[in-house]
Amino acid sequence: MPSADSSGPLFSSELISPAVLKALPEGYSCRPLEKKDYHNGFLDVLRVLTTVGDITEDQWNERYEWMSRRNDEYFLLCVIDSSNTIVGTGALIAERKFIHNLGLVGHIEDIAVAKDQQGKKLGLRIIQALDFVAEKVGCYKTILDCSEANEGFYVKCGFKRAGLEMAHYY
Ligand code: ACO
Repeated sequence: MPSADSSGPLFSSELISPAVLKALPEGYSCRPLEKKDYHNGFLDVLRVLTTVGDITEDQWNERYEWMSRRNDEYFLLCVIDSSNTIVGTGALIAERKFIHNLGLVGHIEDIAVAKDQQGKKLGLRIIQALDFVAEKVGCYKTILDCSEANEGFYVKCGFKRAGLEMAHYY
């Protein structure tokens, strides 16, 4: 059930894969996003992916609280290092459909690993963690869009090319 309390983790910590926690490098961990992560490097990690903009803490809180009210739909998680700094992140959005018997489709979005932390399998662990959430909440598939340059990474994570992305920008 979506909760009005936004002081805890964005979603239940029980949805964090025990296998991923075990496989992370010594001292690293994986957990749901928290409101305090405004001060914990989350937006800086996202900047390796794309433009983030200058987001104030009030703006952050408002968006976080919006997501927190939809905590059966928005699953943003982080990998933290031994100093509790966020070094990687990824999101799963569970879309509810009428088709496929009221099926749920997982959308993987905004995968980012800090530049100086890439190549340690953190990206792979983030995808495995999101796959675990998707299965647990009942998604029948998970899809994502990526550049050709990242195709090899997602193939290593078990994904295969299926279709073509199209976009309208506004
Ligand atoms: N092409 C081919 N293979 C790759 C690539 C790539 N671009 N990146 C990593 N791999 C391979 C690795 O060599 C490794 O292979 P191995 O198992 O044989 O050793 C395997 O994939 C796992 O790699 P990780 O170490 O887990 O990758 P990393 O932690 O560096 O994360 C990521 C990869 C997320 C793409 C990172 O480089 C990054 O943050 N890039 C910038 C942001 C970005 O492009 N994000 C993805 C956008 S698409 C989306 O969000 C849906």
